Amino acid sequence: MNETHHHIFIEGTNNKNVLILLHGTGGNEHDLINVGKHIDPDASILGVRGNVLEGGMPRYFRRLAEGVFDEVDLFFRAQELHDFLNDAIQHYAPKSEQITMIGYSNGANIAATLLMKHEKLVDRAILFHAMVPYRNQEVLALDNTYVFIGAGSNDPIIPQNETQELIDVLRSNQATVKDIWYNSGHQLTMNEVEDAQKWYSSI
Ligand code: MLT
Repeated sequence: MNETHHHIFIEGTNNKNVLILLHGTGGNEHDLINVGKHIDPDASILGVRGNVLEGGMPRYFRRLAEGVFDEVDLFFRAQELHDFLNDAIQHYAPKSEQITMIGYSNGANIAATLLMKHEKLVDRAILFHAMVPYRNQEVLALDNTYVFIGAGSNDPIIPQNETQELIDVLRSNQATVKDIWYNSGHQLTMNEVEDAQKWYSSI
């Protein structure tokens, strides 16, 4: 199969459900395994490392400054990740029926790009601390796409209006979005993971 990305696959007891894990800046393919196991302990897990390095820290695409993305690289890397995920799912979990992306920060931003711009890969996504990844370009119709967004009202890296704009874009393109705001900063908290778990089991 296409080996463009470092990754880990852990086979679950329920081979119909797969969780794709996308880490934050400086993370790796192992980072969100505990979060994934909390959200669906029976699912298979595919953790993927970003291919770009910023001062030695893995990310999924380049940025020009904090919160200012290199759109050319974003679209190139999103396509590369999309192709990898397509292949990896075929290879590891050909019988999967329900695939969910779980992303945090930079991982949530590339997950949002995959939802908005690329041929449908998943029908559910959990985006922790995400922002609108691009503007002024086409967004696909997102009927039957379910998205959970967890955001910190005092997140110094992801301004509230950027997350709100993402929520608005997803909703105006027919996605079903549940957003929960926490009195927290950029860190992913246990409260958010618990709420994402409840949302995941309710849809
Ligand atoms: C990004 O670059 O995707 C966001 O600014 C969040 C992060 O620091 O990863």
